[in-house]
Amino acid sequence: MRAVVWHGREDVRVDEVPDPQIQRETDAIVRITSTAICGSDLHLYSKLWPVMRRGDILGHEAMGIVVETGPGVTHVRPGDRVVVPFNIACGSCAFCGDALFSQCERTRDEGLLARKSNLLGRGKGASLFGYTHLYGAVPGGQAELLRVPEAHVGLVPVPHDGPDERYLFLTDVLPTAMQAVRYADVPEGGTLAVWGLGPIGQMAARIAVRDGATVFGVDPVAERRAMAERHGVQTIDPGDVDDAAAEVRFRTGGRGADAVIDAVGMEADGSVVGKVVQTLKIQLDRTYALRQCMKAVRRGGTLSLSGVYAGPVQMFPLGDLFDMQIQLRMGQANVLRWIPELLPLCTEDDPLGTLDFTTHRLPLDVAPAAYEMFQRKDDGCVKVVLDPRITANGEAAS
Ligand SMILES: NC(=O)c1ccc[n+]([C@@H]2O[C@H](COP(=O)([O-])OP(=O)(O)OC[C@H]3O[C@@H](n4cnc5c(N)ncnc54)[C@H](O)[C@@H]3O)[C@@H](O)[C@H]2O)c1
Ligand SMILES: [Zn+2]
Ligand SMILES: [Zn+2]
Repeated sequence: MRAVVWHGREDVRVDEVPDPQIQRETDAIVRITSTAICGSDLHLYSKLWPVMRRGDILGHEAMGIVVETGPGVTHVRPGDRVVVPFNIACGSCAFCGDALFSQCERTRDEGLLARKSNLLGRGKGASLFGYTHLYGAVPGGQAELLRVPEAHVGLVPVPHDGPDERYLFLTDVLPTAMQAVRYADVPEGGTLAVWGLGPIGQMAARIAVRDGATVFGVDPVAERRAMAERHGVQTIDPGDVDDAAAEVRFRTGGRGADAVIDAVGMEADGSVVGKVVQTLKIQLDRTYALRQCMKAVRRGGTLSLSGVYAGPVQMFPLGDLFDMQIQLRMGQANVLRWIPELLPLCTEDDPLGTLDFTTHRLPLDVAPAAYEMFQRKDDGCVKVVLDPRITANGEAAS
């Protein structure tokens, strides 16, 4: 089969690789019909190269048709249309029982690298599809076929009608956005600022607007602000004001927003110092956006991080956050936790605007160019969906 394979820093290729096989009784094989590129994939593409290996298959946002199931998978059968949550979870350990699927203790990577990479000596959370040698090194879904371990839990059947884009974002974007908003805990009719209007920020903002919050969205990219404005968000261009955090405080009576979501993460733009410390490997994460979020939240408010951070942070203003009585909530999304609330919103009337979201639907074969375009935010790119069933010439793949 063809798959998007990591070859090195900013070097992904579409290679011919062996088809995946059922290995355990709770496995299934899915023929992928749509698979998206995520902001998290951009970290693997670029900054997180030390925990990648040549030959890794990328991708954790995939859906398709079940082709084969092991004997332990009984809730779906070949021919069913399914989405695949990005966490791999057993469904029965103590954490899964608490709906903390991203912390599943049976699928955790127990390898030396995973165990050593936690500064507290606590290892890593649940394995994830296509997500480094810290999270299980599980082959990902940017491919024609995907082996789904723990498929008795990790396959969510969806209706056969409607375009893939109606359901695809249940794999990651929608649950991540919903978790960010629920963790933000905006009081009724309150204010929320969202830093970063990539896919996650877009959907978080839409969910919060739907909940009745006044939402400010901050992003330097004009097309992304325009998309957010179409969905009721008041946007701020950081290039247009002296300080976007001060602008949020100004718009909220001087106090700051009730809650702030960081949907930017470790590759934030805007600070030369941030780039220098990252390049010199003094610090893996660029924290400019995170610090802006801290400056924009009101005292007693909540800071909800969905943007990914990977390592220790210098000069973290812990005492100031303590003084300001800030609640800090974060983590990988517990995808299955939010599906029951989200699936009923994936309907023809499309309340979350999932059909005003994908800017590029492209053949899997052009993945290298698609990664580059998404990273550079060229051509108005907000979300790329790859289709393994068509070739670069627009013909049906064999
Ligand atoms: N917690 C989870 O489970 C989870 C799941 C998916 C994605 N993520 C993370 O969420 C983050 C966003 O993902 P995405 O898919 O939306 O990616 P993305 O890279 O497309 O979005 C990031 C956005 O932040 C903007 N930005 C950069 N610097 C900024 C700054 N200083 N101020 C304001 N905006 C700034 C960019 O212009 C871009 O629009 C990534 O870190 C990703 O890894 C987390
Ligand atoms: Zn993702
Ligand atoms: Zn579990």
